[in-house]
Amino acid sequence: MFDKRNLSSLSSGARQDANKLARGYYRTDDKTTLGILHAIAAKDPEKPLFLLDPCCGEGIVAHDIAEHLGNTRTYGAEIDGERFLKASEKMDRVVHGDALYLTANQSWAGLMFFNPPYGTTQTKSAGKEVNIRLEELFWIRHASRLVTGGLLIAVLPDYLFFRESRKLADQFANYLSDDTIVYRAETAQFKQIVIIGHRRDRQRFPTPNLDLRNLLLNHDADLPSLPQEPLSSPFLAPAGHAPDIFHASSLTTEAVSVAISNDNSFDKELERMFLSETISGTRFRSVAAIREGHIPALLASGGLDGIVQDEQGAYLVRGTVNTVIEVTDGEATENSTKTISTRKHETRIMAWDLSTFDLIDITDNPAARKETA
Ligand SMILES: C[S@@+](CC[C@H](N)C(=O)[O-])C[C@H]1O[C@@H](n2cnc3c(N)ncnc32)[C@H](O)[C@@H]1O
Repeated sequence: MFDKRNLSSLSSGARQDANKLARGYYRTDDKTTLGILHAIAAKDPEKPLFLLDPCCGEGIVAHDIAEHLGNTRTYGAEIDGERFLKASEKMDRVVHGDALYLTANQSWAGLMFFNPPYGTTQTKSAGKEVNIRLEELFWIRHASRLVTGGLLIAVLPDYLFFRESRKLADQFANYLSDDTIVYRAETAQFKQIVIIGHRRDRQRFPTPNLDLRNLLLNHDADLPSLPQEPLSSPFLAPAGHAPDIFHASSLTTEAVSVAISNDNSFDKELERMFLSETISGTRFRSVAAIREGHIPALLASGGLDGIVQDEQGAYLVRGTVNTVIEVTDGEATENSTKTISTRKHETRIMAWDLSTFDLIDITDNPAARKETA
């Protein structure tokens, strides 16, 4: 049985806590984690269960769930360097980088813990700047990682569906089974809800869960608290299986330091970094014919990684995109200060001349996109 005393404490000291909040790190609080643990169990405890937390922070909640379920392999992604290093000590495989650019398979996780950053970002659609919720972006990117019948635990702001994104309420209604329950999180501080349910087999059960949609869109909904004791019929998480591919688009200093400290893993990181998508068998599809003008973008995105040859020689090419987030204080109201986060995508292209192995070219083109949280 999981012991409540094993849950790591939320506080790291008043000053550090304030810093974390200022940088938008709203990790799942321990009381909410305990309530979630009371609601879940492994379906096949003898098989290893594969858990994904695509925005894993310091890996605390993923680690607590794994301890509770037993026989669990934890996978995660985290953009912040310090949190990544901490998560790497607690989880089996963590990548350091932007989870929106994670390279990983679909349909492998038996359990997905989804607590992404909250806020609004701007993106281009049909040539126009439009606002989109971050939660929606992360959902679009990661919903497919769970196997059909896999267990989703989503911790989200309570106003997200009725105030910000009715579209996301439709997506959850299409995605989740009829036994889904929406709880209120244990702490009122972040005004969160906890959605627990299974990914529906849409071929067998095509009708959306309209009760769930209506509940998510009702801002007066009277939601139950998370269970105080283990449920007699908990939500069961199936095992899933290991992903074939799970890596970031770039190698960072922090990722190298973790890889060096794990025997054998450094060679694997290097292999991942230098293997081209074409060599590893993945083919890119383009909606229009590729023209010469597309080459810089293809290089920067890593789409042309690998060995490129022409009459002048052979080159090893590597392109990366790094997301850098800067958070500053914006407008202050009586009770709070709105933080503004700006995401910059820094592209970098490196090429080595294979006859000398000299680094011959580095291109650096920061391009910025604005986001408010
Ligand atoms: C709400 S916290 C959740 C942490 C953890 N899953 C939990 O529930 O305690 C969101 C985390 O996402 C991280 N994050 C923000 N943007 C990210 C991105 N683009 N890629 C990966 N992680 C990101 C933040 O640094 C933060 O640690």
